[in-house]
Amino acid sequence: MTEQTDRIQEAHEKRMAWWREAKFGMFIHWGLYAIPAGVWKGKRVPGIGEWIMYRARIPVREYEALAKRFNPVKFNAEEWVKVAKDAGMRWIVITAKHHDGFCMFDTKLTDYNIVKATPFKRDPLKELSEACKKEKIKLGFYYSQTLDWHHPDGLGNDWDYDPEKKNFSKYLEEYVKPQLRELLTNYGPVAVIWFDIMTPTPEQARNLRDFVHELQPETLVSGRVGPWREVGIADYREMGDNEIPPGKVEGDWETPATINDTWGFKSYDHNWKSTGVLIHKLVEIVSKGGNYLLNVGPTAEGTIPKPSVDRLREMGEWLKVNGESIYGTTAGPFPEMEWGRSTAKPDKLYLHILAWPDTGQIEVPAFDREIKKVYPLADPDRKSLKFRSKEGGTVIDLPEKAIDPVDTVLVAEIE
Ligand code: GLC
Repeated sequence: MTEQTDRIQEAHEKRMAWWREAKFGMFIHWGLYAIPAGVWKGKRVPGIGEWIMYRARIPVREYEALAKRFNPVKFNAEEWVKVAKDAGMRWIVITAKHHDGFCMFDTKLTDYNIVKATPFKRDPLKELSEACKKEKIKLGFYYSQTLDWHHPDGLGNDWDYDPEKKNFSKYLEEYVKPQLRELLTNYGPVAVIWFDIMTPTPEQARNLRDFVHELQPETLVSGRVGPWREVGIADYREMGDNEIPPGKVEGDWETPATINDTWGFKSYDHNWKSTGVLIHKLVEIVSKGGNYLLNVGPTAEGTIPKPSVDRLREMGEWLKVNGESIYGTTAGPFPEMEWGRSTAKPDKLYLHILAWPDTGQIEVPAFDREIKKVYPLADPDRKSLKFRSKEGGTVIDLPEKAIDPVDTVLVAEIE
């Protein structure tokens, strides 16, 4: 390695440190699409809420008119940050500009932004950055760098604009970059710029990444700035939406996920996953080495839907007891077990019992270390459970019943 690649690697390791510990973050999809909330001209538009402009091929002039109606007077940055904090989430990523092109921040590059085009007139990103600073939660921005259905040179809108006439490099240089500069200058430290959909060419992707890192060396660049396989473009790999890989994945990665079936608010999507399912997904992802970025889609009034708030609060309650088995851990040493999953720290193994067995015991496959002591994480006395080795592993006798029916965590001290 040359000195330069050493330095690049060092900078990357440095900016990844908090993220590797953090494991659980909040995604927020909020924009004009919260007004139609999945319905356009009286008809339900299928698909995810923030894609309504595209799915219904809404002309720019018609969609723009939503801005005059956007007045989320119930928005309270401190409340939102508290929801994230109580859930045990360590960072927030909010849509600064989604594919519809509407800017949820104060920008000089277009009047099509929340401060200039709406009766609300406030900059929610600014308010969130202040609330996050106070609560020591990190804040990052989703920014759609490729698709922009409002800007004539952004990609994706072929019903208002002729795709042949688009000048995408001009859009990148004269619009995307100056906006990124605003986001990386006016809001304090930015945890991540969450690019999406992929930049058309690897050169453009690398160029955007370097631009971000020059402005804020500590800001992470998400996997979808370019194809993750292109070694070294992004800081970490982004899985597909709601995608959980079948087994352990090496390297840094994240699963962005929904609580119901949409990112942006839809009035009629009530398909909420249960708290138990969400905790299992968190454990599953962390047991395979990943981070979980779980989405909320606030309404046009500025509130996070109650079903989301309730579930997040319950996740936070579980994490208050069991957080040690999540934060700062790495993937467990063995693959999916019938009874559950495992996460690890250098001197401890966490056995997450997701399906309590009738047999009263679990079998832990042999791995390269020896188990010294086993106790339930929720037991303040750390009273040891009985265990014995047998061929190919260790058998642990469980307490009479599950301490938490969703996930009872055992700690195995290892040598
Ligand atoms: C997809 C969608 C987008 C959403 C994102 C979240 O790429 O295009 O609407 O923001 O997934 O992961």
